[in-house]
Amino acid sequence: MSIRNSTAERDIASLLHPYTNLDKHRTTGPVIMASGEGIYLFDEHGKKYLDGMASLWCASLGYNESRLADVAYKQLKTLPFFHLFNHRSHNPAIDLAERLLSIAPVKMSKVLFANSGSEANDTAVKLVWYYNNALGRPKKKKIISRLRAYHGVTVMAASLTGLPANHADFDLPIAGILHADCPSYYHYAEPGETEEAFSERLAANLESMILKEGPETIAAFIAEPINGSGGVIVPPKGYFALVQKVLRKYDILFIVDEVICGFGRTGRMFGTETFDLKPDIITMAKALSASYMPISALMITDEIHQAMIGESQKLGVFAHGVTYSGHPVCAAVALETLKIYEERQIIAHVQKVAPLLQAGLRRLADHPLVGEARGVGLIGALEIVADKSMKSKFDAAIGMGGALEAIALKRGLIIRTLRDGSIAMCPPLIITDAEVEELLVKLRATLDDAADMLVAQRHWNPKAA
Ligand SMILES: Cc1ncc(COP(=O)(O)O)c(C=O)c1O
Repeated sequence: MSIRNSTAERDIASLLHPYTNLDKHRTTGPVIMASGEGIYLFDEHGKKYLDGMASLWCASLGYNESRLADVAYKQLKTLPFFHLFNHRSHNPAIDLAERLLSIAPVKMSKVLFANSGSEANDTAVKLVWYYNNALGRPKKKKIISRLRAYHGVTVMAASLTGLPANHADFDLPIAGILHADCPSYYHYAEPGETEEAFSERLAANLESMILKEGPETIAAFIAEPINGSGGVIVPPKGYFALVQKVLRKYDILFIVDEVICGFGRTGRMFGTETFDLKPDIITMAKALSASYMPISALMITDEIHQAMIGESQKLGVFAHGVTYSGHPVCAAVALETLKIYEERQIIAHVQKVAPLLQAGLRRLADHPLVGEARGVGLIGALEIVADKSMKSKFDAAIGMGGALEAIALKRGLIIRTLRDGSIAMCPPLIITDAEVEELLVKLRATLDDAADMLVAQRHWNPKAA
Protein backbone atom coordinates (compact mmCIF):
# COMPACT_ATOMS: atom_id res chain seq x y z
CA MET A 1 0.00 0.00 0.00
CA SER A 2 1.36 3.44 -0.79
CA ILE A 3 0.62 6.65 1.01
CA ARG A 4 -1.87 8.32 -1.22
CA ASN A 5 -3.91 10.67 0.86
CA SER A 6 -3.52 13.32 3.46
CA THR A 7 -5.30 11.33 6.18
CA ALA A 8 -2.49 8.79 5.98
CA GLU A 9 0.09 11.57 6.08
CA ARG A 10 -1.57 13.08 9.15
CA ASP A 11 -1.59 9.66 10.79
CA ILE A 12 2.13 9.21 10.19
CA ALA A 13 2.89 12.70 11.45
CA SER A 14 0.92 12.35 14.67
CA LEU A 15 0.25 8.79 15.84
CA LEU A 16 2.43 6.25 17.57
CA HIS A 17 0.84 2.91 16.68
CA PRO A 18 0.72 0.01 19.14
CA TYR A 19 2.05 -3.36 17.90
CA THR A 20 3.38 -1.84 14.70
CA ASN A 21 6.74 -1.78 12.96
CA LEU A 22 7.29 1.94 13.53
CA ASP A 23 9.88 2.25 10.79
CA LYS A 24 7.80 0.43 8.17
CA HIS A 25 4.74 2.47 9.10
CA ARG A 26 6.43 5.62 7.86
CA THR A 27 6.28 4.27 4.31
CA THR A 28 3.29 1.93 4.30
CA GLY A 29 0.95 4.14 6.32
CA PRO A 30 -2.29 2.92 7.89
CA VAL A 31 -5.49 1.23 6.69
CA ILE A 32 -8.08 3.70 7.91
CA MET A 33 -11.45 2.27 8.88
CA ALA A 34 -14.42 4.58 8.64
CA SER A 35 -17.53 2.62 9.62
CA GLY A 36 -18.98 -0.80 10.29
CA GLU A 37 -22.14 -2.80 9.79
CA GLY A 38 -22.73 -6.24 11.25
CA ILE A 39 -19.49 -8.20 10.89
CA TYR A 40 -18.26 -5.92 8.05
CA LEU A 41 -16.00 -2.87 8.15
CA PHE A 42 -15.66 -0.13 5.52
CA ASP A 43 -12.45 1.77 5.01
CA GLU A 44 -12.19 5.46 4.17
CA HIS A 45 -12.45 4.64 0.44
CA GLY A 46 -15.62 2.60 0.95
CA LYS A 47 -13.96 -0.79 0.49
CA LYS A 48 -15.79 -3.52 2.43
CA TYR A 49 -14.04 -6.10 4.62
CA LEU A 50 -15.35 -9.14 6.43
CA ASP A 51 -13.79 -8.91 9.86
CA GLY A 52 -12.47 -12.38 10.60
CA MET A 53 -10.92 -11.19 13.86
CA ALA A 54 -13.70 -9.19 15.59
CA SER A 55 -11.07 -6.39 15.60
CA LEU A 56 -8.74 -7.67 18.34
CA TRP A 57 -10.69 -10.83 19.34
CA CYS A 58 -13.29 -8.58 20.89
CA ALA A 59 -16.07 -6.95 18.80
CA SER A 60 -18.48 -9.77 19.63
CA LEU A 61 -21.66 -8.03 18.46
CA GLY A 62 -20.22 -6.51 15.30
CA TYR A 63 -20.21 -2.84 14.48
CA ASN A 64 -23.70 -1.31 14.55
CA GLU A 65 -25.49 -2.49 17.65
CA SER A 66 -27.64 0.59 18.28
CA ARG A 67 -28.85 -0.60 21.69
CA LEU A 68 -25.32 -0.16 23.03
CA ALA A 69 -25.04 3.33 21.55
CA ASP A 70 -28.41 4.30 23.03
CA VAL A 71 -27.55 3.00 26.49
CA ALA A 72 -24.22 4.87 26.44
CA TYR A 73 -25.94 8.11 25.42
CA LYS A 74 -28.60 7.73 28.13
CA GLN A 75 -25.97 7.10 30.79
CA LEU A 76 -23.88 10.03 29.57
CA LYS A 77 -26.93 12.26 30.01
CA THR A 78 -27.82 10.86 33.46
CA LEU A 79 -24.55 10.30 35.32
CA PRO A 80 -21.58 10.52 32.94
CA PHE A 81 -19.10 9.77 35.67
CA PHE A 82 -18.73 8.95 39.27
CA HIS A 83 -16.32 6.65 41.06
CA LEU A 84 -16.33 3.72 43.45
CA PHE A 85 -13.56 4.83 45.84
CA ASN A 86 -14.04 5.43 49.55
CA HIS A 87 -17.57 4.01 50.06
CA ARG A 88 -19.06 5.72 46.97
CA SER A 89 -21.03 3.83 44.35
CA HIS A 90 -23.53 3.98 41.48
CA ASN A 91 -26.17 1.72 40.00
CA PRO A 92 -24.49 0.74 36.70
CA ALA A 93 -21.52 -0.78 38.59
CA ILE A 94 -23.77 -2.52 41.13
CA ASP A 95 -26.06 -3.91 38.42
CA LEU A 96 -23.13 -5.17 36.35
CA ALA A 97 -21.35 -6.76 39.33
CA GLU A 98 -24.55 -8.58 40.31
CA ARG A 99 -25.09 -9.77 36.77
CA LEU A 100 -21.51 -11.05 36.45
CA LEU A 101 -21.75 -12.97 39.72
CA SER A 102 -25.00 -14.52 38.53
CA ILE A 103 -23.35 -15.92 35.37
CA ALA A 104 -19.99 -16.78 36.97
CA PRO A 105 -18.86 -20.27 35.93
CA VAL A 106 -17.89 -21.17 39.51
CA LYS A 107 -19.13 -19.58 42.72
CA MET A 108 -17.56 -16.16 43.00
CA SER A 109 -17.95 -13.59 45.75
CA LYS A 110 -16.95 -10.14 44.49
CA VAL A 111 -16.22 -8.17 41.31
CA LEU A 112 -13.51 -5.53 40.90
CA PHE A 113 -13.50 -3.41 37.74
CA ALA A 114 -10.63 -2.01 35.66
CA ASN A 115 -10.22 -0.72 32.11
CA SER A 116 -8.24 -3.29 30.15
CA GLY A 117 -7.29 -6.94 30.17
CA SER A 118 -3.72 -6.00 31.08
CA GLU A 119 -4.89 -4.06 34.12
CA ALA A 120 -7.13 -6.90 35.22
CA ASN A 121 -4.24 -9.39 35.09
CA ASP A 122 -1.91 -6.92 36.78
CA THR A 123 -4.48 -6.49 39.53
CA ALA A 124 -4.97 -10.26 39.86
CA VAL A 125 -1.31 -10.62 40.83
CA LYS A 126 -1.59 -7.78 43.35
CA LEU A 127 -4.62 -9.45 44.92
CA VAL A 128 -2.73 -12.75 45.14
CA TRP A 129 0.15 -11.02 46.93
CA TYR A 130 -2.25 -9.16 49.25
CA TYR A 131 -4.02 -12.45 50.01
CA ASN A 132 -0.83 -14.29 50.90
CA ASN A 133 0.34 -11.42 53.08
CA ALA A 134 -3.04 -11.51 54.80
CA LEU A 135 -2.54 -15.23 55.44
CA GLY A 136 0.95 -14.60 56.87
CA ARG A 137 2.73 -16.27 53.93
CA PRO A 138 5.12 -13.50 52.83
CA LYS A 139 7.32 -15.90 50.84
CA LYS A 140 4.48 -17.31 48.72
CA LYS A 141 4.66 -14.75 45.91
CA LYS A 142 5.95 -16.23 42.65
CA ILE A 143 3.57 -16.54 39.73
CA ILE A 144 3.78 -19.30 37.13
CA SER A 145 2.60 -18.41 33.65
CA ARG A 146 3.36 -20.35 30.45
CA LEU A 147 5.52 -19.93 27.39
CA ARG A 148 3.46 -18.43 24.54
CA ALA A 149 0.83 -17.14 26.96
CA TYR A 150 -0.55 -13.65 26.31
CA HIS A 151 -1.75 -11.64 29.28
CA GLY A 152 -1.17 -8.04 28.18
CA VAL A 153 1.43 -5.31 28.17
CA THR A 154 1.65 -3.53 31.53
CA VAL A 155 4.85 -4.32 33.42
CA MET A 156 3.28 -7.27 35.23
CA ALA A 157 0.99 -8.45 32.42
CA ALA A 158 3.85 -8.36 29.90
CA SER A 159 6.00 -10.28 32.38
CA LEU A 160 3.27 -12.92 32.60
CA THR A 161 3.13 -13.00 28.82
CA GLY A 162 5.37 -15.74 27.47
CA LEU A 163 6.25 -14.21 24.10
CA PRO A 164 9.83 -13.01 23.51
CA ALA A 165 8.76 -9.87 21.62
CA ASN A 166 6.93 -8.58 24.71
CA HIS A 167 10.08 -8.89 26.81
CA ALA A 168 12.87 -7.86 24.42
CA ASP A 169 14.37 -4.49 25.28
CA PHE A 170 11.55 -3.71 27.73
CA ASP A 171 13.74 -5.30 30.44
CA LEU A 172 11.08 -7.90 31.19
CA PRO A 173 10.02 -10.23 32.71
CA ILE A 174 10.37 -8.89 36.23
CA ALA A 175 11.66 -11.15 39.01
CA GLY A 176 9.37 -13.76 40.48
CA ILE A 177 7.59 -14.70 37.24
CA LEU A 178 8.19 -18.20 35.88
CA HIS A 179 7.08 -19.69 32.58
CA ALA A 180 5.99 -23.32 32.38
CA ASP A 181 5.73 -25.33 29.14
CA CYS A 182 3.49 -24.24 26.29
CA PRO A 183 0.73 -26.84 25.82
CA SER A 184 0.93 -26.98 22.01
CA TYR A 185 0.70 -30.66 21.10
CA TYR A 186 1.40 -29.88 17.43
CA HIS A 187 4.69 -28.16 18.21
CA TYR A 188 6.04 -29.84 21.29
CA ALA A 189 4.78 -33.44 21.48
CA GLU A 190 7.50 -36.03 21.05
CA PRO A 191 7.23 -38.51 18.16
CA GLY A 192 4.58 -41.11 19.01
CA GLU A 193 3.50 -39.33 22.19
CA THR A 194 -0.28 -39.31 22.73
CA GLU A 195 -2.09 -36.14 23.78
CA GLU A 196 -2.69 -37.66 27.21
CA ALA A 197 0.99 -38.58 27.62
CA PHE A 198 2.00 -35.09 26.48
CA SER A 199 -0.31 -33.58 29.13
CA GLU A 200 1.17 -35.88 31.77
CA ARG A 201 4.69 -34.83 30.82
CA LEU A 202 3.76 -31.13 31.04
CA ALA A 203 2.05 -31.57 34.42
CA ALA A 204 5.12 -33.46 35.70
CA ASN A 205 7.37 -30.64 34.45
CA LEU A 206 5.14 -28.12 36.23
CA GLU A 207 5.43 -30.11 39.45
CA SER A 208 9.23 -30.29 39.08
CA MET A 209 9.35 -26.51 38.60
CA ILE A 210 7.29 -25.99 41.76
CA LEU A 211 9.45 -28.37 43.79
CA LYS A 212 12.67 -26.82 42.50
CA GLU A 213 11.51 -23.31 43.42
CA GLY A 214 9.93 -24.46 46.70
CA PRO A 215 6.12 -24.78 46.87
CA GLU A 216 6.11 -22.29 49.75
CA THR A 217 7.28 -19.63 47.25
CA ILE A 218 4.68 -20.25 44.51
CA ALA A 219 1.51 -18.19 44.88
CA ALA A 220 -0.46 -18.64 41.66
CA PHE A 221 -0.65 -20.12 38.18
CA ILE A 222 -2.24 -18.10 35.39
CA ALA A 223 -3.62 -19.47 32.12
CA GLU A 224 -5.90 -18.62 29.24
CA PRO A 225 -8.33 -21.52 28.58
CA ILE A 226 -7.14 -21.32 24.95
CA ASN A 227 -3.93 -19.33 24.35
CA GLY A 228 -5.02 -16.65 21.90
CA SER A 229 -2.21 -14.44 20.64
CA GLY A 230 0.34 -17.19 21.34
CA GLY A 231 -1.16 -19.22 18.47
CA VAL A 232 -4.74 -20.26 19.36
CA ILE A 233 -3.42 -23.23 21.29
CA VAL A 234 -6.19 -25.60 22.33
CA PRO A 235 -5.18 -27.49 25.48
CA PRO A 236 -4.41 -31.18 24.83
CA LYS A 237 -6.61 -33.89 26.34
CA GLY A 238 -6.33 -34.13 30.10
CA TYR A 239 -4.05 -31.10 30.40
CA PHE A 240 -6.05 -28.85 32.72
CA ALA A 241 -7.26 -31.72 34.93
CA LEU A 242 -3.65 -32.73 35.59
CA VAL A 243 -2.41 -29.16 36.02
CA GLN A 244 -5.19 -28.36 38.50
CA LYS A 245 -4.31 -31.48 40.51
CA VAL A 246 -0.74 -30.17 40.86
CA LEU A 247 -1.97 -26.70 41.85
CA ARG A 248 -4.25 -28.11 44.55
CA LYS A 249 -1.46 -30.31 45.90
CA TYR A 250 0.75 -27.29 46.56
CA ASP A 251 -1.96 -24.79 47.57
CA ILE A 252 -1.42 -22.62 44.51
CA LEU A 253 -4.16 -20.24 43.34
CA PHE A 254 -5.47 -20.51 39.79
CA ILE A 255 -6.03 -17.29 37.82
CA VAL A 256 -8.00 -17.91 34.64
CA ASP A 257 -7.60 -15.23 31.99
CA GLU A 258 -10.95 -15.16 30.17
CA VAL A 259 -10.13 -11.95 28.28
CA ILE A 260 -10.61 -13.69 24.90
CA CYS A 261 -12.51 -16.84 25.85
CA GLY A 262 -15.12 -15.17 28.07
CA PHE A 263 -18.72 -14.54 26.94
CA GLY A 264 -19.36 -17.28 24.43
CA ARG A 265 -16.23 -17.51 22.33
CA THR A 266 -15.67 -21.24 23.02
CA GLY A 267 -19.36 -22.17 22.82
CA ARG A 268 -20.00 -21.81 26.57
CA MET A 269 -20.32 -18.55 28.48
CA PHE A 270 -16.75 -18.99 29.78
CA GLY A 271 -13.75 -21.06 28.68
CA THR A 272 -13.70 -22.15 32.33
CA GLU A 273 -16.84 -24.22 31.60
CA THR A 274 -15.54 -25.58 28.29
CA PHE A 275 -12.40 -26.94 29.95
CA ASP A 276 -13.79 -27.68 33.43
CA LEU A 277 -11.58 -25.23 35.30
CA LYS A 278 -11.83 -24.26 38.98
CA PRO A 279 -10.41 -20.73 39.14
CA ASP A 280 -9.87 -18.67 42.27
CA ILE A 281 -9.70 -15.48 40.20
CA ILE A 282 -11.17 -14.85 36.75
CA THR A 283 -10.12 -11.89 34.63
CA MET A 284 -12.26 -10.63 31.72
CA ALA A 285 -12.51 -7.74 29.25
CA LYS A 286 -13.13 -7.46 25.48
CA ALA A 287 -16.55 -9.14 24.86
CA LEU A 288 -17.69 -8.02 28.32
CA SER A 289 -18.81 -4.80 26.61
CA ALA A 290 -18.67 -6.12 23.02
CA SER A 291 -15.74 -3.64 22.99
CA TYR A 292 -18.05 -0.65 22.55
CA MET A 293 -16.55 0.83 25.73
CA PRO A 294 -13.32 -0.06 27.55
CA ILE A 295 -13.96 -2.11 30.66
CA SER A 296 -12.44 -5.14 32.36
CA ALA A 297 -13.22 -7.02 35.53
CA LEU A 298 -11.95 -9.58 38.01
CA MET A 299 -14.08 -12.00 39.96
CA ILE A 300 -12.66 -13.46 43.17
CA THR A 301 -13.73 -16.25 45.51
CA ASP A 302 -15.05 -15.66 49.00
CA GLU A 303 -11.89 -17.14 50.48
CA ILE A 304 -9.78 -14.42 48.85
CA HIS A 305 -12.33 -11.76 49.73
CA GLN A 306 -12.39 -12.75 53.43
CA ALA A 307 -8.60 -12.53 53.63
CA MET A 308 -8.67 -9.12 51.94
CA ILE A 309 -11.21 -7.82 54.46
CA GLY A 310 -8.87 -8.72 57.30
CA GLU A 311 -5.89 -7.15 55.58
CA SER A 312 -7.67 -3.87 54.80
CA GLN A 313 -8.88 -3.74 58.39
CA LYS A 314 -5.28 -4.12 59.54
CA LEU A 315 -3.93 -1.51 57.10
CA GLY A 316 -6.90 0.85 57.26
CA VAL A 317 -7.65 0.66 53.54
CA PHE A 318 -7.53 -1.60 50.48
CA ALA A 319 -5.22 0.86 48.75
CA HIS A 320 -5.86 -0.11 45.16
CA GLY A 321 -8.12 1.32 42.46
CA VAL A 322 -8.07 3.14 39.13
CA THR A 323 -10.08 6.28 38.55
CA TYR A 324 -12.29 4.72 35.90
CA SER A 325 -12.89 1.41 37.71
CA GLY A 326 -16.56 0.63 37.01
CA HIS A 327 -17.04 3.79 34.92
CA PRO A 328 -20.83 4.21 34.73
CA VAL A 329 -21.01 4.54 30.94
CA CYS A 330 -18.79 1.49 30.39
CA ALA A 331 -20.69 -0.49 33.03
CA ALA A 332 -24.06 0.41 31.49
CA VAL A 333 -22.86 -0.67 28.05
CA ALA A 334 -21.45 -3.92 29.46
CA LEU A 335 -24.71 -4.68 31.25
CA GLU A 336 -26.68 -4.10 28.05
CA THR A 337 -24.21 -6.36 26.20
CA LEU A 338 -24.88 -9.17 28.66
CA LYS A 339 -28.64 -8.63 28.24
CA ILE A 340 -28.27 -8.87 24.47
CA TYR A 341 -26.26 -12.10 24.80
CA GLU A 342 -29.10 -13.58 26.83
CA GLU A 343 -32.01 -12.26 24.76
CA ARG A 344 -30.46 -13.32 21.46
CA GLN A 345 -29.24 -16.62 22.90
CA ILE A 346 -25.73 -15.90 21.72
CA ILE A 347 -24.31 -19.10 23.26
CA ALA A 348 -26.82 -21.26 21.36
CA HIS A 349 -26.00 -19.27 18.22
CA VAL A 350 -22.26 -19.90 18.63
CA GLN A 351 -22.94 -23.61 19.19
CA LYS A 352 -24.93 -23.70 15.95
CA VAL A 353 -22.53 -21.77 13.72
CA ALA A 354 -19.16 -22.84 15.19
CA PRO A 355 -19.15 -26.36 13.67
CA LEU A 356 -19.27 -24.75 10.21
CA LEU A 357 -16.22 -22.64 10.96
CA GLN A 358 -14.34 -25.53 12.56
CA ALA A 359 -15.17 -27.95 9.74
CA GLY A 360 -14.21 -25.33 7.16
CA LEU A 361 -10.86 -24.68 8.85
CA ARG A 362 -10.20 -28.45 9.01
CA ARG A 363 -10.92 -28.67 5.26
CA LEU A 364 -8.29 -25.97 4.68
CA ALA A 365 -5.72 -28.26 6.31
CA ASP A 366 -5.46 -29.91 2.86
CA HIS A 367 -3.91 -26.71 1.50
CA PRO A 368 -0.17 -27.10 0.85
CA LEU A 369 0.59 -24.07 3.03
CA VAL A 370 -1.35 -25.32 6.07
CA GLY A 371 0.37 -27.54 8.63
CA GLU A 372 -2.50 -27.75 11.08
CA ALA A 373 -6.03 -26.39 11.47
CA ARG A 374 -7.26 -26.08 15.04
CA GLY A 375 -9.84 -24.33 17.19
CA VAL A 376 -12.91 -24.55 19.37
CA GLY A 377 -16.16 -22.61 19.05
CA LEU A 378 -15.64 -19.39 17.12
CA ILE A 379 -11.87 -19.23 17.58
CA GLY A 380 -9.43 -21.06 15.39
CA ALA A 381 -6.13 -20.94 13.53
CA LEU A 382 -4.31 -22.25 10.50
CA GLU A 383 -0.63 -22.97 11.05
CA ILE A 384 1.28 -21.78 7.98
CA VAL A 385 4.26 -23.94 7.08
CA ALA A 386 6.81 -24.18 4.29
CA ASP A 387 6.98 -27.96 4.71
CA LYS A 388 4.13 -29.95 6.20
CA SER A 389 6.09 -33.00 7.31
CA MET A 390 8.94 -30.96 8.80
CA LYS A 391 6.51 -28.35 10.22
CA SER A 392 9.09 -25.81 9.08
CA LYS A 393 8.46 -22.08 8.81
CA PHE A 394 9.18 -19.68 5.98
CA ASP A 395 12.31 -17.58 6.28
CA ALA A 396 11.47 -14.51 8.38
CA ALA A 397 12.96 -12.31 5.63
CA ILE A 398 10.00 -13.20 3.38
CA GLY A 399 7.63 -11.52 5.84
CA MET A 400 4.87 -14.11 5.41
CA GLY A 401 2.69 -12.66 8.15
CA GLY A 402 2.51 -9.19 6.64
CA ALA A 403 2.14 -10.59 3.14
CA LEU A 404 -0.80 -12.82 4.12
CA GLU A 405 -2.56 -9.96 5.90
CA ALA A 406 -2.10 -7.70 2.85
CA ILE A 407 -3.38 -10.37 0.45
CA ALA A 408 -6.41 -11.02 2.66
CA LEU A 409 -7.16 -7.29 2.79
CA LYS A 410 -7.15 -7.20 -1.02
CA ARG A 411 -9.63 -10.09 -0.91
CA GLY A 412 -11.80 -8.10 1.51
CA LEU A 413 -10.96 -10.18 4.58
CA ILE A 414 -9.36 -9.10 7.83
CA ILE A 415 -7.14 -11.78 9.36
CA ARG A 416 -4.42 -11.61 11.96
CA THR A 417 -1.17 -13.46 11.58
CA LEU A 418 0.48 -14.38 14.86
CA ARG A 419 4.16 -14.44 15.57
CA ASP A 420 4.23 -18.24 15.56
CA GLY A 421 3.29 -18.10 11.86
CA SER A 422 -0.37 -19.00 12.18
CA ILE A 423 -3.44 -17.20 10.85
CA ALA A 424 -5.95 -16.57 13.63
CA MET A 425 -9.71 -16.58 13.13
CA CYS A 426 -12.00 -15.03 15.70
CA PRO A 427 -15.04 -13.47 13.98
CA PRO A 428 -17.80 -11.56 15.77
CA LEU A 429 -20.10 -13.98 17.62
CA ILE A 430 -23.07 -12.80 15.53
CA ILE A 431 -21.59 -14.25 12.33
CA THR A 432 -24.20 -16.21 10.30
CA ASP A 433 -23.84 -19.51 8.44
CA ALA A 434 -23.61 -17.70 5.10
CA GLU A 435 -20.98 -15.30 6.45
CA VAL A 436 -18.88 -18.23 7.71
CA GLU A 437 -18.97 -19.67 4.19
CA GLU A 438 -17.92 -16.30 2.76
CA LEU A 439 -15.06 -16.09 5.28
CA LEU A 440 -13.84 -19.57 4.33
CA VAL A 441 -13.97 -18.83 0.59
CA LYS A 442 -11.96 -15.64 1.10
CA LEU A 443 -9.50 -17.46 3.35
CA ARG A 444 -8.85 -20.18 0.76
CA ALA A 445 -8.41 -17.53 -1.93
CA THR A 446 -5.91 -15.77 0.33
CA LEU A 447 -3.92 -18.99 0.76
CA ASP A 448 -3.99 -19.64 -2.99
CA ASP A 449 -2.81 -16.11 -3.76
CA ALA A 450 -0.04 -16.45 -1.16
CA ALA A 451 1.07 -19.77 -2.69
CA ASP A 452 1.16 -18.17 -6.16
CA MET A 453 3.18 -15.25 -4.81
CA LEU A 454 5.71 -17.55 -3.12
CA VAL A 455 6.16 -19.60 -6.28
CA ALA A 456 6.48 -16.49 -8.47
CA GLN A 457 9.13 -15.09 -6.12
CA ARG A 458 10.89 -18.50 -6.06
CA HIS A 459 10.58 -18.70 -2.30
CA TRP A 460 8.78 -22.02 -2.32
CA ASN A 461 8.32 -25.19 -4.27
CA PRO A 462 4.90 -26.73 -3.41
CA LYS A 463 5.92 -30.13 -4.83
CA ALA A 464 8.79 -30.31 -2.37
CA ALA A 465 6.44 -29.26 0.47
C1 LIG B 1 -5.86 -13.46 26.86
C2 LIG B 1 -5.58 -11.99 26.96
N1 LIG B 1 -5.33 -11.45 28.16
C3 LIG B 1 -5.08 -10.15 28.31
C4 LIG B 1 -5.06 -9.31 27.22
C5 LIG B 1 -4.75 -7.85 27.41
O1 LIG B 1 -5.88 -7.11 27.24
P1 LIG B 1 -5.77 -5.54 26.88
O2 LIG B 1 -5.20 -5.46 25.52
O3 LIG B 1 -7.18 -5.08 26.99
O4 LIG B 1 -4.89 -4.93 27.91
C6 LIG B 1 -5.34 -9.80 25.96
C7 LIG B 1 -5.35 -8.93 24.78
O5 LIG B 1 -5.43 -9.35 23.66
C8 LIG B 1 -5.59 -11.19 25.81
O6 LIG B 1 -5.80 -11.72 24.62
